[in-house]
Amino acid sequence: GLTTAQRAAIQNNWATVSANMQEFGDALFMRYLLANPGDIQFFPKFQSAGVGAQLRSNEAFQEQTLTVFQFLGQIVAKLGDLDAAGKMLQERVRSHKPRGITMAQFERLLDLLPRFLQENAGANGPCADAWRVAIANLMPYMR
Ligand code: HEM
Repeated sequence: GLTTAQRAAIQNNWATVSANMQEFGDALFMRYLLANPGDIQFFPKFQSAGVGAQLRSNEAFQEQTLTVFQFLGQIVAKLGDLDAAGKMLQERVRSHKPRGITMAQFERLLDLLPRFLQENAGANGPCADAWRVAIANLMPYMR
């Protein structure tokens, strides 16, 4: 599990994300889609914008990234109860399945998060490592 210090590191750093959630959400999804350009096909609502600079000003894209980050915020708030957090994530994996999205996509997105927060949101090394532990603990719920 997570130590109290690890949970605090994640939750304290998330305040930085919350203060600018749209920007961070857009930036992480840009990184995700640049690494996995084919995955834009899962998003009919902004697919035609293409994976490029113009995507960031697309309202449907922005709505999507904000939705995901608000959800991640709920997970962060629940990290004191990893089982509850895991079950929330499990529900989302299930809601994505009919769209052809699997755990592999979730894993690829979450894998980007620790270093992304370190490079863009002032997370320190221990905070990024705490995220790695949290994600490892949440992964079994997504299978
Ligand atoms: C919708 C969360 C990853 C594709 C949603 C919604 C939430 C959400 C809360 C709206 C409610 C729902 O339909 O369940 C997350 C979280 C993710 C994640 C927490 C990872 C940690 C992904 C990935 C993809 C994806 C990696 C595709 C590569 C979609 C699509 C929708 C959606 C296509 C429906 C969009 C629409 O047309 O309105 N996601 N998601 N999600 N998500 Fe995700």
